[in-house]
Amino acid sequence: MASVPSPIDAVQTPEWKALKEHHDRLEEEGISLKDWFAADPDRVNKLSFEAGDLHFDLSKNLITDETVKLLADLGRAVRVEERRDEMFSGVHINTTEDRAVLHTALRRPASEKGTLIVDGQDVVADVHEVLDRMYAFAEEVRSGAWKGVSGKRIEHVVSVGIGGSDLGPVMVYEALKPYADAGIDCRYISNIDPNDAAEKLSGLDPETTLVIIVSKTFTTLETLTNAREIKAWMLAALKDAGAIDGSAEQDAEAIEKHFVAVSTALDLVAEFGINPENAFGFWSWVGGRYSVDSAVGLSLIIAFGPERFQQFLEGFHAIDEYFCSTPLEENVVALMGLMNVWYVNFFGAASHAVLPYTQYLHRFPAYLQQLTMESNGKGVRWDGTAVTSTTGEIFWGEPGTNGQHAFYQLIHQGTQMIPADFIAFANTAHPAKDGDQDVHELFLGNFLAQTKALAFGKTADEVRAEGTPEEIVPARCFTGNRPTTSIFGSELTPFALGELIALYEHITFVEGTVWGIDSYDQWGVELGKQLAKQITPAFHDDEALAAQDASTQALIQFYRAHR
Ligand code: F6P
Repeated sequence: MASVPSPIDAVQTPEWKALKEHHDRLEEEGISLKDWFAADPDRVNKLSFEAGDLHFDLSKNLITDETVKLLADLGRAVRVEERRDEMFSGVHINTTEDRAVLHTALRRPASEKGTLIVDGQDVVADVHEVLDRMYAFAEEVRSGAWKGVSGKRIEHVVSVGIGGSDLGPVMVYEALKPYADAGIDCRYISNIDPNDAAEKLSGLDPETTLVIIVSKTFTTLETLTNAREIKAWMLAALKDAGAIDGSAEQDAEAIEKHFVAVSTALDLVAEFGINPENAFGFWSWVGGRYSVDSAVGLSLIIAFGPERFQQFLEGFHAIDEYFCSTPLEENVVALMGLMNVWYVNFFGAASHAVLPYTQYLHRFPAYLQQLTMESNGKGVRWDGTAVTSTTGEIFWGEPGTNGQHAFYQLIHQGTQMIPADFIAFANTAHPAKDGDQDVHELFLGNFLAQTKALAFGKTADEVRAEGTPEEIVPARCFTGNRPTTSIFGSELTPFALGELIALYEHITFVEGTVWGIDSYDQWGVELGKQLAKQITPAFHDDEALAAQDASTQALIQFYRAHR
C-alpha cells in the first residue's frame, strides 16, 4: 500500500505568500466589483464555467484573473491533483483510520469492473453486486411483489439512521419528491429523542410498512435504540391488528417481511434478527457523510426506482470525471474549494451560506453541514501536527426566498463577510401563474436580484436620489462587494442532484488538502458519546452523580427535582 506523503504546510509556501501579497494589494487599491466589471467586459465570460450540465458564474466573487492563477498555483503547491488521484485510486488517505477513501467508486459504471483493485478487492465489481441486489429488491417492493406478513403491499418505508445514515437520504428524498412514482412514502427517524419516532410512526399501518435500519457500524446508540423500539412497536401493532399471533415463529416471520438493514457490519445485523439475505452491505472506505450513493440510499431506490438512482449516480460520476480531468485554472470544482480557502484565510470569513432557490433543496444546507463540518472541523493535520491556519468554516443556509425575509439582512449589511452559493434551476416541477406572471420567473428574479445587490450594492448618492432624508441615508446604503457564486441548472433532476453533491464533496476535499486535514475521520464526535454513557446512570445513581463535575451535578439535581 502506497504511503501518504506528509501534508505540505500551505502557509509556508511561496504560493501562499504570493496570494497574501495579492490580497493586500487588492485591498490597498480598493476592491470594487463594479469597477472590475466596468474595466473588463469579458469578466463574466472568463469566470463562467460548465461542469456536467451545470453552469457556474464566479464573476461576482472577489477574484481577478490573477487570483485564479494564484489559487491554482496554491492548489498545485499542496498537491491537490496528486492527492485527488491518490484518493480515486484507493490510497489510504484517511490516515488516522488507515482507510482508503473511495466514495467515488460508488458511482463508477459497471464497465469499469476489474479496473480498481484495492486491498485485494475488485471495488467496482463489489459495488455493482450490491447495486444489482438493491435494484432487484426495490423493484419487488415497488411492484408489490414483496408483501408484508399479512400479504399486503408496502406503502410506507421508515428509514432509521443518524448522521450520514440519515441526512443524505432525507435530503435526497425531499429534493426528488416529484420523481416518487410508486405510491410509497418514506419517513426518516434519526433522533434518540422518542418524540421523533412517535411523530414519524404516527398514523402508520404496520402491515404496509417496511423498516430499513441504516447504520454503517450497527453500533450507534441512537439508531440501535430506535431500531429496538420500532421492532417492539411493529410486533405489538401487527399482533393488535391480528396479523400475527405473538408466537416466536410469527414474530420472526414478521421481522423478515418488515425489516431490512444497510450496514458494513453484517454480523451485527444478523444478531439483531434481520435475515442476512435482507441486508445490503457497504464498505469501510465509504465515510458515513459520503454514503448517500451507497446502500444507505436504499429508501431512495424504493421511492424513485433504479433508473432514477442510476441517473443520480451518473450525475456524481460526471462531476468526478470533470474534477479529475480539468486543469486547475479551469476546474470550477477545485476553484470553488480554493476560493473558500481564499475567503477563510485571507478575508477572515467564518461562515459560508448555501442558498438554494428551490424549495425541494430545503434540507441541502443541513446535509452540507455534516459533509463539510464533520470533514474539515479539525485542528490537527493528517500527520498529527497542528494546523497552521484557520480551518473549517461554518456552512449554513435556507432556501430563498424564505431566507431573504430572515437572515439576508446580515449578509447584505452586517460587518462580517459571508460568501454565499446561490443554486437555481431554469425549470420547475410545478409551474404556476399569478395572473399573467409566471411565478417561477418571479422566484428567479429574486435569485438574480439578491446576487446583484450583494455584488454592486447601493451608494449614498443613489439612496439620496430616491428622496431619502439625509439622516437615514447611511442605513439604506449597501456596500456591495459581497461575494457570491451562482450555480444554475436546467432542472433539479436526479442527475443534477448527484452533480451538486459530488461538487461539494470535492470542494470539501480541496479545502481539507490545503489545510493538511484528514477530511475523512471524525474523532471529534467521540468524547461526547463516551461521556453520555458515563453520565446517564447519574440520573438515578448517587455514586455516579458524585463523580460528575459541579455543573453536571447541578443540572442533574434540577432534573431530579422536576421529575
Ligand atoms: O456522528 C458520528 C458518526 O459516526 C457519523 O460520522 C456517522 O455518519 C453517524 O455517526 C452514524 O454512524 P452509523 O452509520 O455507524 O450509525
